Amino acid sequence: MTPSHAAGDPHSAEGDPTHGPASPTEGLTGWAEIDLSALEHNVRTLRDLAPHADFMAVVKADAYGHGLLPVARAAVQAGAGWLGVAQFSEAFALRDAGLDTRLLTWLSVPGADFTGAVRRHIDLSASAPWVLEEVAAAARTVGTTARVHLKVDTGLGRGGAFGSDFTTLVGRARALEAEGSIRVVGIWTHFAFADAPRHPTVIAQQERFFEAVAEAEQAGIRPEVRHLANSAATLVHPSAQADLVRPGIAMYGLTPVPQIDDDFGLRPVMSLRMRLALVKRLPAGQGISYGHTYAPKVDTVVGLVPAGYADGVPRNASNVGPVSIGARRTTIAGRVCMDQFVVDLGPDSDATAGDVITMFGAGPGVPTAQEWADATGTISYEIVTRIGARVPRISVGGSQGRS
Ligand SMILES: Cc1ncc(COP(=O)(O)O)c(C=O)c1O
Repeated sequence: MTPSHAAGDPHSAEGDPTHGPASPTEGLTGWAEIDLSALEHNVRTLRDLAPHADFMAVVKADAYGHGLLPVARAAVQAGAGWLGVAQFSEAFALRDAGLDTRLLTWLSVPGADFTGAVRRHIDLSASAPWVLEEVAAAARTVGTTARVHLKVDTGLGRGGAFGSDFTTLVGRARALEAEGSIRVVGIWTHFAFADAPRHPTVIAQQERFFEAVAEAEQAGIRPEVRHLANSAATLVHPSAQADLVRPGIAMYGLTPVPQIDDDFGLRPVMSLRMRLALVKRLPAGQGISYGHTYAPKVDTVVGLVPAGYADGVPRNASNVGPVSIGARRTTIAGRVCMDQFVVDLGPDSDATAGDVITMFGAGPGVPTAQEWADATGTISYEIVTRIGARVPRISVGGSQGRS
């Protein structure tokens, strides 16, 4: 987990992140500002778009790099009835911090701490009979009935039971239900092409999913929730919303379908800011950073930004990653190193060490995480999630006080 710090509202006079003695960011090398008001707005926006479905806030991977606990609390505050994570450690962290919302975790390996999960009332996903056996054994140890979601592979070819394996899974689940050690509360799947509107596999997966649900129901299973929609499906395939939607990226204010010219009313949650560690003049032609892949054409002012690939700045952002300083945009000059990179601020720059640049985030003229993704040949998910542990997450806004 990355550290999360409380902070004042950077947009208010007393909490300005760049100036003033009250600033919680004074002296910080850099920080990821996490706008919990935007997060809450996004949850409400998505809930309005899926009015008949319950809402699972997907907060795996440290809430896509935004900070697990403040994000989870804000999402619940904004009406998320469920939280979803990939790994037991993430689910345990939520429960141990006092979050008692319905919680599903979906990736486990044999020998994982199933007893700890069952004891903490965490819903568990089963893609194979061995998971059911481990869950049932844990339930017997704890003396309870464990809650299980059966996962069907409807065509993603990743997690879930495929084809007749699902029939086997259902049979074993029914036997363990009869014994009282588990209860199947959910049936679920995941799309391969939800981000490709009208892709034929979306309908095919949906049909296969409801066939699987019917098969399970015929066998006597009575799920509380059937769920398949990630952000893209929630936004562009409303027929997939079913009983519960599972948005991740959209909740963080980033679109899963950048090819569609619509922000769906979502607001970016993370703004990545860095302080200039050094500002100096360099003559025309002076090569910059390892390998001298950039040299200014005229005498110029450069700024040293103390963030590198150890902090999640992609090395292939060298010479292409956009940043903003004040109202000005510029681009990384030369190679991104492990801890630092350089920006060419232009000959007339009056920047000084300590000034704040924004790499991506919210605000007029500020580069977006999607621009970073486009510049570096990846997706916005990776840009925000990969921000490293050296970068503190500073929560601002939100309706429930800070955590
Ligand atoms: C099973 C599952 N459901 C939902 C999500 C949320 O996806 P997205 O961030 O595209 O909304 C993910 C994330 O990859 C996932 O693995």
